[in-house]
Amino acid sequence: MAATLAFDVYGTLIDTHGLVAMLRDMVGERAADFSRTWRERQLEYAFRRALMQNYVPFSVCTAQALDHTCAFYGTPLSMAWRAALLDAYRTLPAFGDAADGLAQLRAAGFKLYAFSNGTADAVRTLLDAAGVGGLFLDIVSTDDLRSFKPSPAVYSHFLRAAGATGAETWLVSSNPFDVIGALSAGWRAAWVKRSPEALFDPWGVSPTATVADLRELAAAIAP
Ligand code: 2OP
Repeated sequence: MAATLAFDVYGTLIDTHGLVAMLRDMVGERAADFSRTWRERQLEYAFRRALMQNYVPFSVCTAQALDHTCAFYGTPLSMAWRAALLDAYRTLPAFGDAADGLAQLRAAGFKLYAFSNGTADAVRTLLDAAGVGGLFLDIVSTDDLRSFKPSPAVYSHFLRAAGATGAETWLVSSNPFDVIGALSAGWRAAWVKRSPEALFDPWGVSPTATVADLRELAAAIAP
C-alpha cells in the first residue's frame, strides 16, 4: 500500500529565512542572525505554550517572537514595518526543490498531506502562494487540538485525520524535534537536512532516512 507522507511545512517546504533580504533593509547586516533568533523564539514559544496548555495560534507565537527578537537586538520596528513583515510571513517562499519533489512523490502514488503547527488557513495560503497547494490530499493542523508539535497527541491526531496507521506513515521534516516526535510516536521519519551544517539532536535515535532535498525522497523511502 502506498505510504502516507506527512510534510512539515515551515522550514521543510517553506523557507522560514525567506525574509532576510527584507530584514536587511530594517535591521542591517544582522538580518540573518535576526531571522534565526526569530525562528528559534517562535518554536520555543510554541513548545512552552503546548507544555503550559496555554494555546494561541502559531501566528501569535510568530508575532510575539518577532517582538522579542526586536528587543533582543535593540532594533525597534515601526508599526508599519512590523505589519509588513508579518504580512510577508504569510507568503514566505518555498524551497526550490519543493514543487518538483512533491510532484514526483505524488506521481509515484504516495499520499501527501501537509502537517503543521500553522492553522489550516495559514498553511493553505502559504502552499497556494508557492503553487504546491493542489498536490496535497489535505492539510492537518495541530490547531485542531489547540497544541503544537512535538506533543504526542498531535501525531495521533494526524493519523486519525488521515485515516492512516503509524506503520504506514512517514513524517518528512527538516526539524529534528519533529522527526524525533514522529519516531517516538511509532512512525518512520525522513530528515530533510537542508544544509550541510544542520545538526541532529544527540538523543540516541536516528531518522529512518536522511535526504538533502525532496527530490531524493522517493528513492530513499521506496519499500
Ligand atoms: C511546522 O509545523 C514545526 O514549523 C513547523 O510547520
